[in-house]
Amino acid sequence: MKNAYALILLLVAAWRPATAADAPLVEVWKSPTCGCCNTWIRHLKDAGFEVRSTDLDDVAPIKQRFKVPPELSSCHTATVGGYVVEGHVPADDIVRLLRSKPKVTGIYVPGMPVGSPGMEGPNAQTYEVLAVDSDGKRGVFATHKGD
Ligand code: CU
Ligand code: CU
Repeated sequence: MKNAYALILLLVAAWRPATAADAPLVEVWKSPTCGCCNTWIRHLKDAGFEVRSTDLDDVAPIKQRFKVPPELSSCHTATVGGYVVEGHVPADDIVRLLRSKPKVTGIYVPGMPVGSPGMEGPNAQTYEVLAVDSDGKRGVFATHKGD
């Protein structure tokens, strides 16, 4: 019996979301008038994520609460599995974040680059998804090539 218990613990420790559908809930805070936020949420749902979103007239307090560096901020802020997800981050990057579990506070797409999910349009820009560790040190988590 003791061994079976140990095995279960092992399986739980080894668990990683294989797909977005296995991932924890994504919570989003956004302005009620933000169209691109809704398109990004649609992108996450299409990828299989479960999403709960809250409209706020002022999103500044939520960015402070989750310590989003001001220069990395975007239109919406989300959390998933204890990570912050700021801006138009592609769903695939969130799946990789949850799978690889790096020691970072979250991943961030500053501004609203054209070509990112929810910001579709001609002349897609090349943009980076940045990761920030607890000391504030930044690294590139992913680069997405534009047109
Ligand atoms: Cu936006
Ligand atoms: Cu947004």
